[in-house]
Amino acid sequence: MTYNIKLRRFKYEDAEALAYFCNDEDLQKYLLLSKLPYTIDDACDFIKYAKDCEESGGEQCFAITLDDNVIGCISYTVQSGCHCNSASVGYYIGKEYWNRGIMPVAVKNILEIIFQNTAINRVFAEIFAENTSSVRVLEKCGFVREGYLRNGVNKDGIVHDAILYALVR
Ligand SMILES: CC(C)(COP(=O)(O)OP(=O)(O)OC[C@H]1O[C@@H](n2cnc3c(N)ncnc32)[C@H](O)[C@@H]1OP(=O)(O)O)[C@@H](O)C(=O)NCCC(=O)NCCS
Repeated sequence: MTYNIKLRRFKYEDAEALAYFCNDEDLQKYLLLSKLPYTIDDACDFIKYAKDCEESGGEQCFAITLDDNVIGCISYTVQSGCHCNSASVGYYIGKEYWNRGIMPVAVKNILEIIFQNTAINRVFAEIFAENTSSVRVLEKCGFVREGYLRNGVNKDGIVHDAILYALVR
């Protein structure tokens, strides 16, 4: 099945949808985001952050839409100093949309945005080793596993292994 998935910048009107999806323990499980309950005010704060970053050149955040309805978020962050040719990516969609092949479409879209608009030639993701679903997304998009980071991530005081995936231009 082909879905009508697009990426666009966030608007404050997206706050309600964003709060609805983010207020979910399962969605946050493998994200550094750790905020429950996640309220509409939290979503507004995030949208303000996304707008500020768009101007300052920080994390570039996009709403993922399905038939023009916001269902999630995907972002890239250009690294600094001698890593300035690299960007990290991160993403989520609401639980009711999982396992339909939607995120690989969004990841391919953001790769297109990155490679068409920047000089970035390496895109990477560092994911919780237990996040099998995200491993599949990256592999389906052509990312290559580069390393296993033992004790690589600390979420709320609990240490997890992580996996480094990357794709080069
Ligand atoms: C991870 C996430 C982005 C995946 O997006 P998605 O659109 O559901 O991804 P897909 O539908 O393409 O793929 C899911 C794949 O994982 C597999 N999968 C799902 N749960 C699984 C599990 N528990 N064990 C093994 N495989 C699993 C599915 O079978 C599918 O693989 P397939 O295409 O080979 O059949 C989505 O679940 C999500 O937003 N999760 C919460 C946030 C998050 O973890 N973000 C990633 C942080 S790096």
